[in-house]
Amino acid sequence: MSRVLEGKVGVVFGVANKRSIAWGIAQAWAQAGAKLIFNYQGERLKENVEELAATFGSDTPAAPCDVSRDEDIVRFMDFVKSKTPRVDLLLHSVAFAPKEALEGNFLDTSREAFRVAHDISAYSLVAVTRAAAPLMAGGGSVVTMSYYGAEKVVPHYNVMGVAKAALEASVRYLAYDLGPRKVRVNAISAGPVNTLAARGISGFSAMLSHYEQHAPLKRNITLEELGAMGVFLASDGGAGVTGQTLYVDSGYSVMGM
Ligand SMILES: NC(=O)c1ccc[n+]([C@@H]2O[C@H](COP(=O)([O-])OP(=O)(O)OC[C@H]3O[C@@H](n4cnc5c(N)ncnc54)[C@H](O)[C@@H]3O)[C@@H](O)[C@H]2O)c1
Repeated sequence: MSRVLEGKVGVVFGVANKRSIAWGIAQAWAQAGAKLIFNYQGERLKENVEELAATFGSDTPAAPCDVSRDEDIVRFMDFVKSKTPRVDLLLHSVAFAPKEALEGNFLDTSREAFRVAHDISAYSLVAVTRAAAPLMAGGGSVVTMSYYGAEKVVPHYNVMGVAKAALEASVRYLAYDLGPRKVRVNAISAGPVNTLAARGISGFSAMLSHYEQHAPLKRNITLEELGAMGVFLASDGGAGVTGQTLYVDSGYSVMGM
């Protein structure tokens, strides 16, 4: 891969392990020349993330940040500022909904599950982008992760689909606010990938085989393909692209039947 991100500094939210989409995009950003700073959600993931981050050099910074806590976001951004005067790239690859909300009927979604899903999966993009924006004085690229359940009914995806719709709308409003500052904001809508978060969705393995059968490319996508789209959006290749949701889904979303 050519080093189109040489000299750029990126902040990566959402690595849990080596299967994480955030890890796939982080690897591609690093191979393209970016220096990275990682968050981890809490102590449980510290060791995993530090170990993965160290594959880019033992001095690769990582610090805790639970995106549902404003004080964590402030503390994490102070940590980022202590490591770099400037941030060019921000990856938000974070989502959560209580397990019981990802099975059964959407009709039964509790007020609390709805709140938590939207707070962690959609509002957190606004919160971390606002916190990082002052460091993006020279412009920048923010990338978040969405899914087709934002637009169409995908059984069991339930409240997460509604939160992804809020996320995609947030991308558009953030793109409008930050455009004058040369900060671009986009979402990648990914086909199903076998990760920790995905395994929380009831019937997830049926989703993988459904895509294999019905998507134009007749296969599922890879982390490398998500990484390549992440590099495109972060680089000058995507210089005129903002407020968009781009699909890396083997073409599944174009099908009507
Ligand atoms: N895997 C898929 O099939 C798929 C498809 C489309 C979109 N996505 C999206 O990709 C993103 C990454 O998910 P993934 O599939 O790589 O799973 P993952 O489990 O590897 O990553 C989810 C990340 O969210 C983090 N997170 C959850 N709650 C948090 C909180 N309160 N504070 C900070 N971090 C928190 C977790 O620590 C984890 O690192 C999510 O937005 C997900 O909805 C996934």
